[in-house]
Amino acid sequence: ADLRHYNTLGVPARARYLTVVNSTTLLTQALQFAHEANLAVLVLGQGSNTVLTRDFDGLVIHNQLRGVDVIQETDSYVELRVAAGENWHQFVSFAVTKHWYGVENLALIPGLVGAAPIQNIGAYGVEVKDVITAVEYVDRTTLAIQTLSNDACQFAYRDSVFKNALCDATVITAVQIRLNKRAALNLDYPALADQAGKQPSLESVFDAVCRIRTQKLPDPAAIPNAGSFFKNPVVTTEHHQRLKSQFPDLIGFATDDGYKLAAGWLIDQAGWKNKEISGVRVHRQQALVVINPSNRSGADVMALAAAIQQDIVRIYDVQLEVEPRIY
Ligand code: FAD
Ligand code: EPU
Repeated sequence: ADLRHYNTLGVPARARYLTVVNSTTLLTQALQFAHEANLAVLVLGQGSNTVLTRDFDGLVIHNQLRGVDVIQETDSYVELRVAAGENWHQFVSFAVTKHWYGVENLALIPGLVGAAPIQNIGAYGVEVKDVITAVEYVDRTTLAIQTLSNDACQFAYRDSVFKNALCDATVITAVQIRLNKRAALNLDYPALADQAGKQPSLESVFDAVCRIRTQKLPDPAAIPNAGSFFKNPVVTTEHHQRLKSQFPDLIGFATDDGYKLAAGWLIDQAGWKNKEISGVRVHRQQALVVINPSNRSGADVMALAAAIQQDIVRIYDVQLEVEPRIY
């Protein structure tokens, strides 16, 4: 099967088998089949955080489990069970029309609900961990259905247990999310506060996030990409001071364990904007985004990434970590 339309970088990789599942029964059967045939399994949502560097000699499972159910509702909040195959942005839009607060800052993030907990998607001062109460999954080996509490998911910046102890060991089937029925906006991100109007509302924040993102980030349907290609690196206070004296405009924010630097700024200042190697290019509006307009291979994408990483080490002594999952 051709996976070009199953990854937003548009990499023309192939899979030995591909199956689309829309029920947990079909999902379990697919896992059983892979187990019996001794096949490796790769779960793909929209493939918007995935780099396929080779053909996949196994079974790709594309999840289309659908449904949004109210589990519990009080005067102040609503708790939902959202199936993993729902589109994330459509869910956010739905929440906004219902007048439920909590996910509006996460509008327009590509991908499916089931992938949201994997890297704890975040934008404009909110992370999905702030609204997740539990994650339901099927264990890929035992086929047992499990539920993990928010705590057990070990959420951190672009990280969770699903990228560590449970890496590629689960298929997430649903995410339980609690949203506020009473006004609770997050306007910590300065550009968002500026754009959300004098009397910010749920709708104006949602609209502002959509506007900001549309200006900066390329639409993968038009220009293949995987969003930020690197995580924003955290350096020690001493390292930050050293860099700040050499680069007074450096953008960094104090965190619990040092300073988080804007990787986009580092790459931009190093002169990489709009630079190209083997048809893969650094986006001209956002240096943290790698674009693949002529559908080159995942290896070509990783070659550009490696060249950027080397340069950033050389100039700033900072090691950038790739954000998307590499297969
Ligand atoms: P995929 O790429 O299909 O999968 C990602 C990983 O999760 C893979 O390892 C896959 O095997 C695994 N996986 C997927 N579904 C399941 C499942 N049901 N069970 C178990 N494992 C699974 N991310 C942010 O955090 N913030 C942003 O602001 C943001 N902006 C973006 C903007 C653009 C233009 C693009 C292209 C990407 C952006 N991203 C952002 C990254 C991406 O949208 C998110 O990581 C998203 O959650 C990926 O969803 P997906 O369905 O495409 O996942
Ligand atoms: N900047 C530059 N040049 C650039 C890009 C950025 O100077 O080419 C500067 C900006 O001017 C700004 C700072 O760097 O002062 C940060 O830029 P921006 O606000 O665009 O955010 P980011 O750090 O590049 C992060 C996330 C995004 C998320 C936005 C909004 C990571 C790795 N990326 O980007 O998430 O949407 O903040 O919150 O944390 C993703 O993970 O795929 C993603 C897109």
